[in-house]
Amino acid sequence: MSSQDHGTPASAGASAPSSAPEQPTPPLRLRLRRLLPYFGHQRWVWVLALCGTLLGAATEPLIPALLKPLLDSGFTDGTLQLWMVPLAIVGVFLVRGVAQFTSQYAITRIANEGMLLLRQALFERLLTAEMALFTRQSSSALSNTVVYEVQTGATLLVQALMGISRDGFTLVALLGYLLYLNWQLTLIVAVVVPAVTWIMKTLSRRLYRITKASQQATDELAYVVEENVLAHRMVRLHGAQAVQQERFGQLSDSLRRLALKATIASAAMTPLTQLLAAVALSIVICVALWQSRAGSSEAHAITVGGFASFIAAMLMLVAPMRRMADVANPLTRGVAALERGLQLIHGTASEQGGTHTPQPVQGALELRDVSVRFGTGEHAPALDRVNLQVRPGEVVALVGPSGAGKTTLVNLLPRFVLPTGGEVLLDGVALPDWQLDHLRAQFAMVSQDVVMLHASIAANVALGAPLDETRVQQCLQAANLAEHVASLPQGMHTLVGHNASQLSGGQRQRLAIARALYRDAPILILDEATSALDTESERLVQEALQRLMRGRTTLVIAHRLSTIEHADRVVVMQQGRIAEQGSHAQLLAQGGLYARLQTPTALADEPSLAP
Ligand SMILES: Nc1ncnc2c1ncn2[C@@H]1O[C@H](COP(=O)(O)OP(=O)(O)OP(=O)(O)O)[C@@H](O)[C@H]1O
Ligand SMILES: [Mg+2]
Repeated sequence: MSSQDHGTPASAGASAPSSAPEQPTPPLRLRLRRLLPYFGHQRWVWVLALCGTLLGAATEPLIPALLKPLLDSGFTDGTLQLWMVPLAIVGVFLVRGVAQFTSQYAITRIANEGMLLLRQALFERLLTAEMALFTRQSSSALSNTVVYEVQTGATLLVQALMGISRDGFTLVALLGYLLYLNWQLTLIVAVVVPAVTWIMKTLSRRLYRITKASQQATDELAYVVEENVLAHRMVRLHGAQAVQQERFGQLSDSLRRLALKATIASAAMTPLTQLLAAVALSIVICVALWQSRAGSSEAHAITVGGFASFIAAMLMLVAPMRRMADVANPLTRGVAALERGLQLIHGTASEQGGTHTPQPVQGALELRDVSVRFGTGEHAPALDRVNLQVRPGEVVALVGPSGAGKTTLVNLLPRFVLPTGGEVLLDGVALPDWQLDHLRAQFAMVSQDVVMLHASIAANVALGAPLDETRVQQCLQAANLAEHVASLPQGMHTLVGHNASQLSGGQRQRLAIARALYRDAPILILDEATSALDTESERLVQEALQRLMRGRTTLVIAHRLSTIEHADRVVVMQQGRIAEQGSHAQLLAQGGLYARLQTPTALADEPSLAP
């Protein structure tokens, strides 16, 4: 299910059913059992559903059964009491209606409660999943699974379950009645059933494969839309519409092909089943006519009413049988959709943490021979055997050209990135031994790409902690954002829009700084925290940050001298390694990479370390 094995859209469309990674599909019974933890609760509702469907199905043969006395004693003999007609007919439909209502309600309830549990489990998994999940699957694929697939899956499954139980029991009841009426004739009807089952099986297996492939194609399509919405400005500026249109068109086309294939498979089911039923019907009528002519003198001769009942019951058999053939369609589709959710729950590991929870935390950091390699290994490592020690309370500036591994290094600390070699220690204890929440509670972070939730400014600042308005106000003040917030219609309670799109880049960054200030954690990580600010507001924010850094271990990534010069130590990185380190003055005197990067333009407060 990873985005890597999607393949190109064209190949996915052309040969999807056969090329989809085919582990042998486990039997349906097993697959349904895996859904049991979510849909198997509420015993009494299941009982209600079962009773409702059983009762409803039992009323089914009553309708043809009424025909026999109606025709034989009503029309032929004329002995039937008139008041019995409405009583019987209305009575049957009343019972049937109540039964159907009950079963429908109960089954819908089961489906929705199941959906609720499954969705919650999915979302919980999303919050605790190992970080690798988010590089493996796009955000649209994940939200598709959690929001839509579960919904579609559960709805289809309910329809299918409802159909199976209703039609299955109806079939049994009608067949029972037919056997009772005339077993010889019924045997002929029974021949049809295996034939129908066989057709159903073959077609539904194909349908399942097509469904899987079109789920993937839908993901890719959603992903293209997502990307183009995110990058709508750049796409227009660069005139990339044609390419994007082409990309979208190809995917839509492969989806269309898959939809047609699915329709061919499912649409063939109904006529084939009906054809078989028609063959059976004609045979039965012939045999019945032959029987009644041959045995008209015997005691069990077929009466008109008996024959009409038989044919009526048999015709009533066709509809549920046809629906039973169709049921494979929503059932397989529904299960396939829900399985995508299950795959996410069972196929994704949770983040693992230890048990170490000391109080208080000193904030001594150490990297021992740490390497980080993204992807499968052809790439140069992002970090290559880095050794670094940071004393509690020390302010270390990380500088270096773009792509040197600075962000990767700081992301190791809250375990957003896991080292592929070596180990990272906090206060002398390896990070995996720390209890994860406790470890992360030690960090305040302003990351390079600021992400905000669609909530009020105050909620974004306090994120996760109890909201204290006076403190929020202080933090906004320190981050030099209070003035702007005051000018907003609802002050700090103004909603910031999707990823704070209602704020400017610099305002967003100051909001992130306010959040870090509010957090008040022993270790501070600033990844180009002030890169989007003008010189004046940077100076103001810098003062607040300076105050915050006091007494805290701080790692600050910056290109600007104004930030670097306050650091106790400067660590210069290049291509995943530490090239040199020392104080600003030492490094300048040394005349190495740092000195070269600090050209006169850099001193003029330009972000010159950037390429
Ligand atoms: N999730 C990822 N998957 C694959 N490669 C990655 C990933 N994140 C970073 N890299 C690679 O790791 C290397 C280091 O990236 P990093 O973000 O640490 O650089 P940086 O020093 O922070 O650069 P900048 O100053 O531009 O922010 C880069 O070559 C980058 O391509
Ligand atoms: Mg970076």
